[in-house]
Amino acid sequence: MKEKIQALRAQIEQLKAANQEELENLRIKYLSKKGEITELFNDFRNVPNEQKREIGQLLNELKNMAQEKINTLRTMFEQSQCAKEETDLSRTADPVALGTRHPLSLVREEIIDIFSRIGFTVAEGPEVDDDWHVFGALNFPPEHPARDMQDTFFVEKNPDIMLRTHTSSVQSRVMTTQQPPIRVLCPGRVYRNEAISARAHCFFHQVEGLYVDKNVSFADLKQALLYFAREMFGADTQIRLRPSYFPFTEPSAEMDISCNLCGGKGCSFCKHTGWVEILGCGMVDPNVLEACGIDSRVYTGYAFGMGIERITNLKYQVNDLRLFSENDVRFLRQFEHA
Ligand code: DAH
Repeated sequence: MKEKIQALRAQIEQLKAANQEELENLRIKYLSKKGEITELFNDFRNVPNEQKREIGQLLNELKNMAQEKINTLRTMFEQSQCAKEETDLSRTADPVALGTRHPLSLVREEIIDIFSRIGFTVAEGPEVDDDWHVFGALNFPPEHPARDMQDTFFVEKNPDIMLRTHTSSVQSRVMTTQQPPIRVLCPGRVYRNEAISARAHCFFHQVEGLYVDKNVSFADLKQALLYFAREMFGADTQIRLRPSYFPFTEPSAEMDISCNLCGGKGCSFCKHTGWVEILGCGMVDPNVLEACGIDSRVYTGYAFGMGIERITNLKYQVNDLRLFSENDVRFLRQFEHA
């Protein structure tokens, strides 16, 4: 009896089954009513009394071991069955929800792309900046009314630290850290303390351009801006420059383009003038060059600044600024193929 138990133990330890059916046959072979182990139990009554205790224990162990082995094999099969189902390679793939690029990013990239073709590189500066970079270096005298033109969010007073109100602050940074020739584009977010409406927001985006070198002229400025307008809005686009005032440029101008909605005939968008304003510009004021450590007798420069929202409104006919920051996917999805 003992030897039989030993032999069965050895067999069961080695048990293998290729599939569920083979496994079931093994169960029948050992554990069913006529199974080999069950038969040993039947023979148990013939075991001499003095061995019953020992053999009984061995038999029970054998039965438990066989049961466990079969259970383990069964769960192995079940798991591999599940795994097979999960990796059904014939199934169609789950759709991946793709995001879209924000319209302001699309337009910012396009502006950068256009100017990079005429030699401009990108420079960036901080959104929280000091008074000197935002106003002082740019020729805003302390009590100058021009400072009131910008409703500023102050972070600290005395010394004044603020959220920049324009990307012209990056001009001051670039000119104090680099010597001409300088030809940079400074895109970024700016902040002004304005009530939020369809036409105004407390934060928006600008791109600043700055070119400083020997013999830079107003004609160079005009040519660069004409090139930009035609690349951005189409080859028929006309520009016009109107005299204006900014503390950091002299002379200063504002640039209009022929309304790209009505082709210059006049519509409600251009208030029936045929023209829409898109940017401010001018020759860098010598005071600004000097404040930043650039010799204004040797170098001249031009600068311009435009609102990315404004360009986007024109290009894609968006008529409410709030749409840009509300993250409404119905709005954003419209730029999927832009
Ligand atoms: N900084 C001006 C603004 O925020 C825009 C601007 C005008 C920038 C003229 C310039 C410039 O560089 O020359 O309204």
